[in-house]
Amino acid sequence: MTRILMVCLGNICRSPLAHGILESKLPKDTFYVDSAGTANYHVGDLPDQRSITVAQNHGIYISHQRGRQFKTSDFDTFDYIYVMDQSNYDNVTKLARNTNDIGKVKLILEVDDTVKNKRVPDPYYGEISDFEHVFTLLDLACSIISKTLTNKDL
Ligand code: 4NP
Repeated sequence: MTRILMVCLGNICRSPLAHGILESKLPKDTFYVDSAGTANYHVGDLPDQRSITVAQNHGIYISHQRGRQFKTSDFDTFDYIYVMDQSNYDNVTKLARNTNDIGKVKLILEVDDTVKNKRVPDPYYGEISDFEHVFTLLDLACSIISKTLTNKDL
């Protein structure tokens, strides 16, 4: 089983979308996908209604997800940890115990060479169009991740 964790700040806007999108592109018998937030503001909460709506518009169901906070043991559980922006990267790597932990953490848009700005913008204070933009960015990145992981002999 290959395990992939998507991380943002609140675990209600960006990482639930990344979680749902990647899950939809990978076989369930060999891949486990989850998401978490670096903050504890939304532990136990459903994803933001706007993320739910945008996902649903693209045929992806994320309403079963609940917010949880990133924890140090996630470095043991997961093989790949994708973060949405530099601040998430800093918050996650602050909890790393060694270089192996740090090596698991990547900015998700770094998988896409065609994207110049590597930040997935936080849509929390934005409009539904900002959530659509996040979906587009994450959908492209997740297509690349799924292709890379399913072609790789792990
Ligand atoms: P996310 O967005 O990190 O994409 O889930 C946010 C959600 C909530 C807050 C900030 C960002 N907040 O401050 O509550």
